[in-house]
Formats: sequence, structure tokens, C-alpha cells
Amino acid sequence: MKRLTHSRFRLFADTVLPKTSCRRLGSLAVVSSNPASNCLMHRQLSPHHRDCRNHVSSFKHRLSKIEFLRLFSSSSVSMQDFHHLTKKNTEELDHLERTALERLIYEYASFELDPIHLEDLLALGKPPISEKVLLENAAYVLRQTTARLAHRLQALRNLPYLIVLNPSISQIYSIYFNSFRVVSQINPPKTLEENDYIVEILEQLVSAHTDTIPILSRGFWEARQYISAEEVTSVLDKHLRARIGTRMLAENHIALTRPIDPAHFIGAVEVDCNPAAILQSTATFVGDICDLKYGLVPHIEFDNQKGQAVTIPYVPVHLEYIFTELLKNAFRATVEFTQKQSQEGSLSSDLNSDKDLASQLPPVMVTIVKTSTGVIIRIRDRGGGIPPAIERNIWDYSFSTFDDGEGDGFATLNAAPGNSIAGLGYGLPLSRAYAEFFGGKLQIQSYFGWGTDVYLTLNTPKKA
Ligand SMILES: Nc1ncnc2c1ncn2[C@@H]1O[C@H](COP(=O)(O)OP(=O)(O)O)[C@@H](O)[C@H]1O
Ligand SMILES: [Mg+2]
Repeated sequence: MKRLTHSRFRLFADTVLPKTSCRRLGSLAVVSSNPASNCLMHRQLSPHHRDCRNHVSSFKHRLSKIEFLRLFSSSSVSMQDFHHLTKKNTEELDHLERTALERLIYEYASFELDPIHLEDLLALGKPPISEKVLLENAAYVLRQTTARLAHRLQALRNLPYLIVLNPSISQIYSIYFNSFRVVSQINPPKTLEENDYIVEILEQLVSAHTDTIPILSRGFWEARQYISAEEVTSVLDKHLRARIGTRMLAENHIALTRPIDPAHFIGAVEVDCNPAAILQSTATFVGDICDLKYGLVPHIEFDNQKGQAVTIPYVPVHLEYIFTELLKNAFRATVEFTQKQSQEGSLSSDLNSDKDLASQLPPVMVTIVKTSTGVIIRIRDRGGGIPPAIERNIWDYSFSTFDDGEGDGFATLNAAPGNSIAGLGYGLPLSRAYAEFFGGKLQIQSYFGWGTDVYLTLNTPKKA
């Protein structure tokens, strides 16, 4: 099956960090042949961390340390290196290194995380960005990324013990732990060359966390008897929102260093982002998935021309994610409801084939309106609406009425989230998390027996 390849951008639609000062109380320098690696291995540590680190560096069997040296002394880090490190079992760490890392996690987990505002991202200014601003941003992103990983590690540890023991949850934990190991070793860059190196690490970090949602989902599903549905929703909501933030910071810094399209982007923010154009390309992509599943594809129609021209400064990959999920829901409902009506004989014409049925599919109507504070986008389908009995569940993670007929729900869970028309039950809650990330809203009005209206509200950045 196809992956989510319709993106016009090289960023990922899914998730990255901001301004805390790291106390400069001590340091440990590790010399390497590469100037970038010297920067990366030179960390500021508080006295107890320094002691611990000194123990670590004098310890003979330092397999992971050697890996770090190899990693940072080569001019470029291969994907395999990073994946090897991030996938390595945490139990392979020697006791002293583990203790040192634990202390770092403890310290970073106490750092406050800055909220991420579109205004702040835009304030970095159009390319070319000055070396000073770029290096400062790299230092900031590194600190916040490290702190955000530490916060996530603490949150995972605070889960009930039987949940932490679940193999899928512990796999997620290991990815975070090993990402922390890598990122916490990096010092702020002093040169553009060092910044390039950090960008590679950030790219690999984003990649290491890309396909983790189905793993997380499986873990919570397997451990469901040990944790209430409300608790799962609350834990997952925090986790996935934090993930969006961490990813946002990393991707923004990557895009600042390697501009996507300098005339239209500041970092990952498109200054004149056009929701209608994104909806159109997303509809084509979702249409292909729908065609594979049902052999039928509804189409979208815009009901006002003015709305199609509306632009807003926004992160386009966030809109791609939201529109993909909303259109999947709308297309699925439209096709299934039309099929049901056809079986019940309640459609007007005599329908004998899918070709006839295709002509009966009502379009998904899109209205885009500019408001004094931003943009409202309404996606209206005539797919029969949401039964009142399940309306209160639709925002729960893992809630889905989709049955792929394969008996085991993990047939869907195992597929990458973008590839299936439905089934993970993450579409609505995660879309709402994306919408609210920059202060927007996602609301649903269902007309049971008729259709569903979904309203996405986006705010224009105040100083934009
Ligand atoms: N436009 C819609 N029309 C009818 N039902 C919908 C619509 N959008 C969402 N739903 C209901 O909400 C449930 C949860 O949606 P979602 O979070 O996207 O998960 P999934 O699509 O994987 O089931 C769906 O399974 C479906 O029952
Ligand atoms: Mg869905």
C-alpha cells in the first residue's frame, strides 16, 4: 500500500521543543578528530553529574561510549548508526553510564517546557537567516528537545507497573531513552558545520519516532485491563501533544537550516498557506485509499470561490494531517451510507453496479471563510451522521466503528496510520491535538440519519 507521499514538503506530518537555561557548573570534554564532534561531546554538567561522568569515562567496558565516539567522530552519522543506538536495549548499558543518564534525565525533566507559538516561529524571519540566529536557535532546540525527551521518559515511568512491562510500551520507552542518550550528548553548535551535524541528528531523531503511533496504540490496547479508558485517553493525549511539539521544533530547525522554499516559508511555516490547495491534494490521496477499499470515490466541492483563495501563515504538514483524517472519515461515511441506502432500496434510481452507485455519491462540501481572527473551514458530508450512542466516544483514542473484516483489529493497527481508510481510532483525537496546537479548534456537529459537519478553526498569528 501507498505511504503518505502526497506531501509537497519534506517534513513529516506528525510531531518536536523551546528556552531553558542549562546550569554551567562543570564540564567534561571528550576529544575527537572531528571539530563537530568536539563540540558535541563537550557537555556542561552539574557537580554530581560530572562526578558520575568521570566514573563513566574511566570505566573499561564502555561499549556504548565507544559507539558514541564512533558516532560523533565520523563526518556523517549513518541512519543505521542512529537506529542501532536508538534501538539498543537499555539493559546493555553499564551501571555507571545508566546512573549518569538517570541523573541527567532527572535534571532535564525538571526544566520547564516553553509553549510553541506560530508568532515566535515567524519572528525568526525570512531566509537567509543570519548565522547568529541559526546557532542560537539550534542551542535552544537542543535544550528543549533534551528536556522534552526527559519529560516523556518520566511520564512513561509514572504509568502503572504492568503497563510499563508491556513489550510495545517498553519498546517506546527504549526509543525515548536512547534518543535522550544521543541528544543529551550534544553541545550547542559554534559553527555552521556543527549546526549541519545537529540537523542530521534531528532528522534521524524525527525518523526514529515516525512510526511509533501504532506501537503505542498496540501497547495500550494489550494492557487495557490494567488502565481505564479515560486514563489511556489522558496519557495518550499528553504524550501525542508533546510529540507534536518536539517534532515541530526539530522540523522547524531543519527547515531553517535547509530552507524548503525561501520565497514562501519561514522554517516550517508557510507564510501564505492555502487550505483549499492542501484540501485538494489531500482529497486525491484519500480518494486513492478509498478506491482501494471500496472501489468508489466521493469528490469534494468548494462552495465559495473567495474561500479557495484564502491564505494564512501556517504549518502545512499539520493541515495535511488534519485534512487527511477528516476526509477519510467523510469519504468512508459517504460511501458506506450510500451503499447501505442502495441495499435498503432507498436511493432514487435503479442501481446495479458500482458505476451507478458512484453517480449517487453526494459530494463532500467544503466552505472556507476568512474571519477577523483567522479562518474557519467546514467539511460537510452526507454520510448519515454519527449515532448518538457513540458520539461521546469519538474523541477517545482507539475508538473506532471500523471493522476491516479480518477479525484481528491489529491488521489495521499494523498498517502505517496513513494507509488505511480507518481503524486506528486516532484520527479525530489526534487531529484535534494538531488543531489546538497553535490555539485552533476542531468541532463536530452530527445530524444522525443525514450527515456530519466538521469545523476547523485556525487563528492568524497575532503579530503576523
Ligand atoms: N464524518 C463522519 N461520519 C460518520 N461517522 C464519523 C465521521 N467521523 C468520525 N466518525 C465516527 O467516529 C469514529 C472515530 O473516528 P476516528 O477517530 O477518525 O477513527 P477511525 O476513523 O480510525 O475509526 C469513526 O469510527 C466513526 O464511527
Ligand atoms: Mg478516521
